[in-house]
Amino acid sequence: MFKIQTFNQISDKGLVRFPKQEYQVSSDVEKADAILVRSAKMSRDNINSNLKAVARAGAGTNNIPVEDYTREGIVVFNTPGANANAVKELVLCSLLLSSRGILLGINWVNSQSPDLESGELSKLVEAEKKNFKGMELKGKTLGVVGLGAIGAQVADAAIQLGMKVLGYDPAISVDAAWRLANQIEKQENLTSLISRSDFVTLHLPVLETTRNLIDRKVINYFKSGAVLVNFSRDAIVDEVALVDALNIGRLGCYVSDFPTPGLLGNKKVILMPHIGASTDEAEENCAIMAVDQLRDFLENGNIRNSVNFPSLSLEKSGGHRIAIINENVPRMLGQILSILADKDINVIDMLNKSRNDIAYNLIDIESAPSEDTLEEIRAIEHVIKVWLV
Ligand code: MLT
Repeated sequence: MFKIQTFNQISDKGLVRFPKQEYQVSSDVEKADAILVRSAKMSRDNINSNLKAVARAGAGTNNIPVEDYTREGIVVFNTPGANANAVKELVLCSLLLSSRGILLGINWVNSQSPDLESGELSKLVEAEKKNFKGMELKGKTLGVVGLGAIGAQVADAAIQLGMKVLGYDPAISVDAAWRLANQIEKQENLTSLISRSDFVTLHLPVLETTRNLIDRKVINYFKSGAVLVNFSRDAIVDEVALVDALNIGRLGCYVSDFPTPGLLGNKKVILMPHIGASTDEAEENCAIMAVDQLRDFLENGNIRNSVNFPSLSLEKSGGHRIAIINENVPRMLGQILSILADKDINVIDMLNKSRNDIAYNLIDIESAPSEDTLEEIRAIEHVIKVWLV
């Protein structure tokens, strides 16, 4: 029986995919094999000796201390693309909110007295509407920073709206590059994108290389009055430099899904309560993807969409499968295989892949290994985790 601990409300559409006979799923299971989480802040304290994986139902993994988990041999999954449409729609909404007098206009209308005669109200509306004039998106330039699943969808939608789209992503994957519309003008660097854009939208994970990416120096490249939209994370923008830029009009508006005390009440800032992925559809898609990935890992040892382990998939070839996680150093495979050879255990198939400091092996063998054999492999220096899949 696999034990799955849930840390947030996860859509039932995903949870029902765990077969009841094989999985115990609850928020209070002890010694979970895997954790399913949305936005709860995780720490080292959530690790137990059984824990093999954490799946985040969402794209960002900044609520999980990924490096600590990697050291403990715990695979961290995310669900790239599963909520991309929801985020894309809210980015489009943000472009509209920042370019038209929608929010101010709605607030003004709601502040009028309900006792007004309808003729009086119409007269007032016609007299005041000049205060809520905006501009059209068609013909304007949108710079998309980060061209993964969300960035690519935002770019496509902006092209449909008649915008000119510039893109920048130094870490783009081959798959993501294939998906890009050819109307997107690729930029060699961030500052050339920013200096040519009327609107800039951020779609990047928080990494050491992206933290404070939009700093004071970069902000100086914005066109006067440009709009910055942030559905990535607040840590990507230097807030002090941002507020200064808004104050002097270098930036005309900042739209963000990540409210911070320093931005509350700023008239040039539109803040939303982290609702980019808060739609029924996105929550369902993320839960389904997270559950399917966890099941494939727990039942077969395969890894898809991990942020800290290599992708790896090996067709089961019958017999028994051992999963081994070790530090990515020389002579590991030789030592493991020689233990199996000493026990006369025949290897049918195997796959070994590494990512940065970590290596992951699936080894299919003909006969069942004893607990002593597994212990012997565990005892090899630099081996982190060994289990029978
Ligand atoms: C994401 O990183 O995809 C979002 O933060 C998801 C969420 O709102 O949970």
